[in-house]
Amino acid sequence: MSEVVLDAVSKVYPGGQRAVEELSLTIADGEFLVLLGPSGCGKSTTLRMVAGLEEVTAGTIWLDGRPANDLTPRERNVAMVFQNGALYPHRSVRGNIGFPLEIAKADPAESAERVTELARALGLERLLDRLPGTLSGGQRQRVAMGRAIIREPSLFLMDEPLSNLDAALRNELRLEIGGLVRGLGVTTLYVTHDQVEALTLADRIAVMNEGRLEDVGTPTQIYENPATAFVAAFLGVPPINLLAATVEAVAGEGVNLHLGRQRLVIPWSDPRAQYLASRHADEVVVGIRSDALQPTGDPHLGAVLSGHLRALEFHGHEWLAHIDAGVTVVDAATVSRRREPEPVGAPSRPTGMAGRALALLRGPHRRAPVEPPAQHVGAHRRAELLTRLHSRDGYSPGMDIHLAVDLDRVLVFSKDGRRVDPVLR
Ligand SMILES: Nc1ncnc2c1ncn2[C@@H]1O[C@H](COP(=O)(O)OP(=O)(O)O)[C@@H](O)[C@H]1O
Ligand SMILES: [Mg+2]
Repeated sequence: MSEVVLDAVSKVYPGGQRAVEELSLTIADGEFLVLLGPSGCGKSTTLRMVAGLEEVTAGTIWLDGRPANDLTPRERNVAMVFQNGALYPHRSVRGNIGFPLEIAKADPAESAERVTELARALGLERLLDRLPGTLSGGQRQRVAMGRAIIREPSLFLMDEPLSNLDAALRNELRLEIGGLVRGLGVTTLYVTHDQVEALTLADRIAVMNEGRLEDVGTPTQIYENPATAFVAAFLGVPPINLLAATVEAVAGEGVNLHLGRQRLVIPWSDPRAQYLASRHADEVVVGIRSDALQPTGDPHLGAVLSGHLRALEFHGHEWLAHIDAGVTVVDAATVSRRREPEPVGAPSRPTGMAGRALALLRGPHRRAPVEPPAQHVGAHRRAELLTRLHSRDGYSPGMDIHLAVDLDRVLVFSKDGRRVDPVLR
């Protein structure tokens, strides 16, 4: 039994670098939780705090219901696998895998049996007498996994264990790690910046950005129903279309989302309409995944966005259509960009309803300067909508194209990147 609870855990490095900010997260007993986020967002720091390799600046880490901040790594009974799978170069595969048992002074005959058994499960049985220097990257990483597993830790911590491997090996080992770890049923915290690893391996994914938790949920929840624009943009290939829109509540009709010259109407019967109506006249960000757009022959039937096909890109199993539609693309990085931290001692800024009311009282002249739309940055403007096509038959650059929008899958975010409608987990 091993449950991990992080309660408002923060890490400030001695130089003042704020690596993790008030992270609260529970990893259930036996769960495979993937910590996902861009480089530098605080994933490794979080993992190292759980392992006991890095001191916690504020907050509490609980292991199995006990505060663990002051426990040594050994007392926590965790096993770690790192990116480079560091092995003892002068010990054989057998010696490396069996090393933790040797340290624990386990019975040699029993140890030998366990090493052989585990080596078989890892596909290493024919390599037991080889030295690490003679192994491939994938084999070395398997040995590192074996050495971590053999102690039967109560918690398994992995930090980008596949990121030094080439693509084919990564796919193969990803599947193996998933099977192996699940078979053991050991609580696992797995760090990666790779969305495919997260989506394929995780029971639940926790997405981090700039030291903070953006969202946590099952892979389907995170992909289909993300809490923030950052999460929506971080997952999915091609990236989600994020478009600037203004909200207009219209009696009888529903809530109009105006996207340049075009609009989408969310009918009043849709539960999201009430939340959107409270944003009447506001600027928002509309998120539409490329797979929620389907070419249609009838521009007047249902929710449709129209544009000109700028380019078709061959991706082997599909074509990617780049479409100009007179809409404004929003850069995910600007939506989710964090406000500068308040200077120490400054009065805290009211948030929520109070904050919004204050902002209204202050009037627009006191608002922060608005970022220019992404399409004005750089000489080469990216096309405004991306959608996938199974074939290029019937399509040629320059032609008009109409896209039916699956309204149920349209996501609406406020300008600070949070979902307008509540996200239930
Ligand atoms: N030992 C350290 N001293 C100072 N800053 C650090 C140290 N380790 C990491 N950082 C900083 O903390 C932030 C988070 O780093 P890290 O946890 O390694 O991110 P990730 O694993 O998500 O790439 C980064 O800005 C990084 O530069
Ligand atoms: Mg890292």
